[in-house]
Amino acid sequence: MNDDDELCLCFHVTKRKVMQFIRVNQPRVPSQLSDCYGAGTGCGWCRPFLKRLMEQPDSEGDLLPDAESYASERKEYRSRKN
Ligand code: FES
Repeated sequence: MNDDDELCLCFHVTKRKVMQFIRVNQPRVPSQLSDCYGAGTGCGWCRPFLKRLMEQPDSEGDLLPDAESYASERKEYRSRKN
């Protein structure tokens, strides 16, 4: 996943925005990332990935899947939820 890819697809929050938010605000719990343009407060798909990025900010998101499979897996996730 590139920095300009959306990490929270519900609210169009890019990975870059989330990483910047983590650097500046140093949230203590993942739920605080909701203050970053609402990240994680929609379908819930991105929450484990937000948590992963928060716990390992130095990874720069290397542990995240590529944007295409991320989006298609979310689609599946949402169809299972409904
Ligand atoms: S993708 Fe972030 S809440 Fe849906």
